[in-house]
Amino acid sequence: MEVFLDNVNKGLKKQTHSESIVKCFPTYVQDLPNGTETGKFLALDLGGTNFRVLLIELSHEHFEMKSKIFAIPQHIMLGSGEQLFDHIAECLAIFVKEEKVADQRLPLGFTFSFPLSQKGLTIGYLERWTKGFNCSNVVGNDVVQMLNEAIDRRGDVEIEICAILNDTTGTLMSCAWKNRSTRIGLIVGTGSNTCYVEKQENAETWNDVNMGSGNVLINSEWGAFGDDGALDFVRTEYDEDIDRNSVNPTKQKHEKMISGMYMGELVRLALERFTKEGLLFGGKGSDMLFERGRFYTKYVSEIESDAPGVFNNLREICEELGLKHATEQDYINIRYICECISRRSAHLVSAGLATLLNKMGEKKVTIGIDGSVYRFHPHFHNLMMEKIKELADPSIEFDLMLSEDGSGRGAALVAAVAARLQKEKKP
Ligand code: GLC
Repeated sequence: MEVFLDNVNKGLKKQTHSESIVKCFPTYVQDLPNGTETGKFLALDLGGTNFRVLLIELSHEHFEMKSKIFAIPQHIMLGSGEQLFDHIAECLAIFVKEEKVADQRLPLGFTFSFPLSQKGLTIGYLERWTKGFNCSNVVGNDVVQMLNEAIDRRGDVEIEICAILNDTTGTLMSCAWKNRSTRIGLIVGTGSNTCYVEKQENAETWNDVNMGSGNVLINSEWGAFGDDGALDFVRTEYDEDIDRNSVNPTKQKHEKMISGMYMGELVRLALERFTKEGLLFGGKGSDMLFERGRFYTKYVSEIESDAPGVFNNLREICEELGLKHATEQDYINIRYICECISRRSAHLVSAGLATLLNKMGEKKVTIGIDGSVYRFHPHFHNLMMEKIKELADPSIEFDLMLSEDGSGRGAALVAAVAARLQKEKKP
């Protein structure tokens, strides 16, 4: 917690920002929704499990939403930036035509869940790719401009990009819409990250006028914590293996110990080693057990969903992986390994959150959360509650709130707030 706090402060300070590991980017989202936002909005959501296009209608206290999932094939995730944005523009065009709104110039919020150095609500330079993406010629460029150019190349859709935001920001916004004490947004999904409300005077790299609240929303990009070796004292050989074999070696070390993109593989690496040492399955594994990426993170949630001493899901998973010869003792051991890895993830997340809670010094904070690991793991919530209670200042009251589709709704809300403020500014 101490080292993490130090990293956050370095990210916030003008003098140390450029060499800081945890970037703490200001998001340019200042105003939380006030419930008066209405109208139709488009949203794009890139960077989680799926790429989605959404059409959202906001009327007072009410949401209506249509959405469509599009695949992003591997060759596009690792191709050129132009290809990626052409693909996104194409999906958008298909969707607005299907929904018959192609001729309305609708405001769009773009949830782009990667580290952006923002210079405004609609200007964001990609700092680095994370998770499975690695498209060429995007790092250092303004991704809003890249999307606008791709839309112009097509010439068949009219939209107005009102805001670009991180999924953590969307999550915070969608929870804040319902619960005004929301001050932190957290994702524990494919990747992991947080955003939180910081006093403007502490956000030294923020260089815009403040529209009133005196607060700035900070995207911590805590996934990068440890990239300078700060976490080496708790990293294991499995963490090193994951890192070496990823598309972004030496990067996002904290995220690699926490998030869904890596959790299953961490378990598999441990299982592989113990099998080879003769400690599991009588020393006899299977091709699938030894295949990279074949032990899915959802297995961890399924295995831990069985009641203690019951191994129904685990038995099925072992059969699926060609491990019919697993014994009861193997089941006990596998479950134990899963518990160690998911608990470690929950504890790392909790330590980060407790640091932010203590730093913010607010008496009551709701933490809005989204992501497949938090959503589907049966004990993640309880593990976090317990650990945060232990680590945060006992005078701080907090709760953890599951976000209803923060990336989609949150994007529409940020676009809606931006549209409202624009209207209010005009006489
Ligand atoms: C990665 C991205 C970050 C995002 C997180 C969760 O850490 O860099 O921007 O919020 O994944 O999707």
